[in-house]
Amino acid sequence: MENKGKFYITTPIYYPSDKLHIGHTYSTVVTDTIARYKRLCGYDVMFLTGTDEHGQKIEEKAKAAGVTPQQFVDNIVEGEGGIKDLWKLMNISNDRFIRTTDDYHVESIQKIFRAMYDNGDIYKGHYEGMYCTPCESFWTESQLVDGKCPDCGREVKPAQEEAYFFKLSKYAKPVQDLLESGEFLEPRSRVNEMVNNFIKPGLEDLCVSRTSFSWGVPVDFDEGHVVYVWVDALFNYMTALGFMNDHYNDYDKYWPADVHMIGKEIVRFHSIIWPAFCMSMGLPLPKKVFGHGWLLLDGGKMSKSKGNVVDPYLLAERYGVDALRYFLIREFPLGSDGNFSNETLITRINTDLANDLGNLVSRTVSMVIKYFGGSLPAEREAAEVDNELVSMASGLREVYAGHMDKFAPQQAVAEVLKVIARANKYIDETAPWQLAKDEANRIRLATVMYNLLESIRICAVLLQPVMPGSCEKIFEQIGACEGCRTWDSAAVYGSLRADVTVHKGDTLFPRIDLKKELEELEKLNAPKLPESKPVLPDVTIDEFAKCDMRVCKVLSCETIKKSEKLLKFQLDDGSGKPRQILSGIRKFYPDPEALVGKTVVAILNLPPRKMMGQESCGMLLSAVKEIDGKEELRLLMLDDSIPAGAQLG
Ligand code: ME8
Ligand code: MG
Repeated sequence: MENKGKFYITTPIYYPSDKLHIGHTYSTVVTDTIARYKRLCGYDVMFLTGTDEHGQKIEEKAKAAGVTPQQFVDNIVEGEGGIKDLWKLMNISNDRFIRTTDDYHVESIQKIFRAMYDNGDIYKGHYEGMYCTPCESFWTESQLVDGKCPDCGREVKPAQEEAYFFKLSKYAKPVQDLLESGEFLEPRSRVNEMVNNFIKPGLEDLCVSRTSFSWGVPVDFDEGHVVYVWVDALFNYMTALGFMNDHYNDYDKYWPADVHMIGKEIVRFHSIIWPAFCMSMGLPLPKKVFGHGWLLLDGGKMSKSKGNVVDPYLLAERYGVDALRYFLIREFPLGSDGNFSNETLITRINTDLANDLGNLVSRTVSMVIKYFGGSLPAEREAAEVDNELVSMASGLREVYAGHMDKFAPQQAVAEVLKVIARANKYIDETAPWQLAKDEANRIRLATVMYNLLESIRICAVLLQPVMPGSCEKIFEQIGACEGCRTWDSAAVYGSLRADVTVHKGDTLFPRIDLKKELEELEKLNAPKLPESKPVLPDVTIDEFAKCDMRVCKVLSCETIKKSEKLLKFQLDDGSGKPRQILSGIRKFYPDPEALVGKTVVAILNLPPRKMMGQESCGMLLSAVKEIDGKEELRLLMLDDSIPAGAQLG
């Protein structure tokens, strides 16, 4: 096959802050489908994905989990059921996987930062603004929407720090020209949004270093500063090719990227900031940024904090990876948002895959076996009724490519399904079971069978980017040799051997009982206990013994005026003198009186603390667990026969 040249395509690099959900899976499956399509066409494809591992959000999550940031990200990226496992499960064909904590990447980022400092585009100043921690973004007052983060709608807080700035303002004009001419950003509807909301109001210089946390690439000429996570993240597209490092050597071959596939909320970073960085470095610009829509759940974006995520592992396990991939591509137009529901997923699988495609393959193969013992005779006898199917199948590749080349895989696949529907109708029209009654129709019947097999073959060639595994099975069942699974062969009707031999196989896409399945899913989604946090690093027995924990009896317990959180305890700790402890557990114990007389446990040797003007001497031990997204807490209580002052250890 002719080599069509190189094609460099990327997904965003994902934050390993939580397990990924179906929205991330969508983003990656879409990119994989296009990468596979380009390979099928004969391009030398470089498909990059990876993880974006630095930043305050990760640092905070790791702290909350009681592990180092590196341990935290290692677990989510490489651990069992982690991001790499998910992409393996989803049959993602990435050629490379970059982690921004990889040494070579860190080294490149330091050099890049210095290069932009040396050329004058990065300078030192002070930053005052509003900061959104989850998004790791600084905003000016005018950018806030109702006082909240314009990206995620969450609270922002004022922040100030000494920082380095990138002269983004200098690139306003060339970036606007880039956006308004040519086809750099798609869908085109996103261009106006960028120009009107961000460039026209005046592009401000971008704060590109942080001192308020340390989990990032250190600025190697100014201690205490780490590189802003988006500088670190965006340049992954180059460092993964070996830009400014010796780890890889493919920069000259693959840069500029042919397309960066990304979600719509990060279009601003990719279509304004990223080209400005490239301009500053004097490097060629990526050819295209494509901003796809979001998968919504009940009309809102999926997010772990809202507790409304859909688990791709569960869906792939229940319906098969290919069925899930197919659904993601076929159901949603790439540039727009789409609403995810289990019902649309199951209905789509049943109609398109079980009924239309699966049924067509199994009926056809069964008939070839029944009427011809599995191998067709090579003679043909055409009829008028064949024409429409044959012409649709013959022209399919061109129509399909037209859509794929415009990043419309949904429409490309819809065209394939039209041919499948036409082939099913062809079975009804030709009524093979009637033809089979008379031996005189033998060659005519073989022709009908061949047209069906050949239509299936062409459809399967073109469905490979979406459902690689299932298409392989279809090829085996219909007896398609290697040479008639290729892109070239999809344009040549009649590629399948005239005397082809078919093979009965397993059902490709079992039908799902919609009602029963929805009930099952309902049960599976019932509240589950979250996984336990990992065990903390070891302490020595001596360290442990430093905590003076003792049994106490509750003498009194009351609420504190003006505090919705606190309860005030007087405790008998065995010393003969009451001990006062304040504890922020009021919402878990609406009836404080009921605690009087209980046997609880307290750490006594914590430094006294003032809360709401009152002193608290120690801390009550409690057990905390998140149940169904809600924190649940219970005080540790012991058998009442244990006396006050008894020591724990
Ligand atoms: O943004 N529907 O990472 P990320 C569709 N690290 N796509 C969705 C989605 C949904 N419900 N939820 C998330 C980042 N995505 C940065 C990228 S690139 C240099 C740095 C998509 O893990 C989202 O739109 O938050 C984005 O494209 C991708 O998942 C990664 O999101
Ligand atoms: Mg190199």
